[in-house]
Amino acid sequence: MAPVSLGVLASGRGSNLQSIIDACRRGDIKAEVKVVISDRQDAYALKRAEKHGIDAYYINIKDYQDKAAYETKIVELLRRYNVQLVCLAGYMRLVGPTVLNAFPWRIMNIHPSLLPSFPGLHAQKQALDCGVKVSGCTVHFVDEGMDSGPIILQACVPVYDDDTEDSLAERILEQEHKIYPRAVGLFAEGKLIVRGKKVFIREAGND
Ligand code: GRF
Repeated sequence: MAPVSLGVLASGRGSNLQSIIDACRRGDIKAEVKVVISDRQDAYALKRAEKHGIDAYYINIKDYQDKAAYETKIVELLRRYNVQLVCLAGYMRLVGPTVLNAFPWRIMNIHPSLLPSFPGLHAQKQALDCGVKVSGCTVHFVDEGMDSGPIILQACVPVYDDDTEDSLAERILEQEHKIYPRAVGLFAEGKLIVRGKKVFIREAGND
C-alpha cells in the first residue's frame, strides 16, 4: 500500500516535524511528508523541509482578505499534494472551518500538556503554576475548539520541584517526538477510530 501523504503546518522551529520526517524516512511509519506550510517566513520548519527536499511554502495571512481566504489557499496547497492527513506541529493559529471541513478527522495536533488540562498557550507554565506532579503531552484530532479534540495518545513525565518552564518543556518534548510519529503511524495503518469524543485504537486481530 502507498504511504499516507502528510501535510504539515508549522510556525516555528519544527522539531516535531523533524521527528515525523525521520520516522517516515526510517520506515517506522507508512507515511511521507509531501508538503510543509508555514504562516511565518522565518520558521525553521521551512528550512528543515527544504533540507529534506520537501516542498515548503510560506503563506502570509496578511496577503488575504480574511482568514477564510487564507485557509482556502492552504486547502488548495494541501489538495495539490493529495494530502490525506494534516499534522499541526507548533502551528500557532486556531484552525478555522475552511480547513476543518476539508479534512474531517484528518487533522492532528500535538500539545505539551496532559489534555484536557492546560490547553492554549504556555502549557508548561500553567502546569508549573498549578503545582502538578506529572505532566506530559497529548496528540489529538483537531476540532473547532482550542486543543479540545478527541485524544489519540498521551505520554507522562514527572514534574520536579526545581523545574523551570524550559526544563519541563525539554522533558516533555522528548516524549512529543515519540508519540507524534506513533500516532501518525497508527493513522497510516487505519487503526484509529473516532467515536464521539473518544478515539479507539484498533488492535491487530480485532479487525
Ligand atoms: C511543541 O511543544 C508542541 O507541543 C507545541 O508547540 C511546540 C512546537 O515545537 N504545539 P516544534 O516547533 O515542533 O519544535
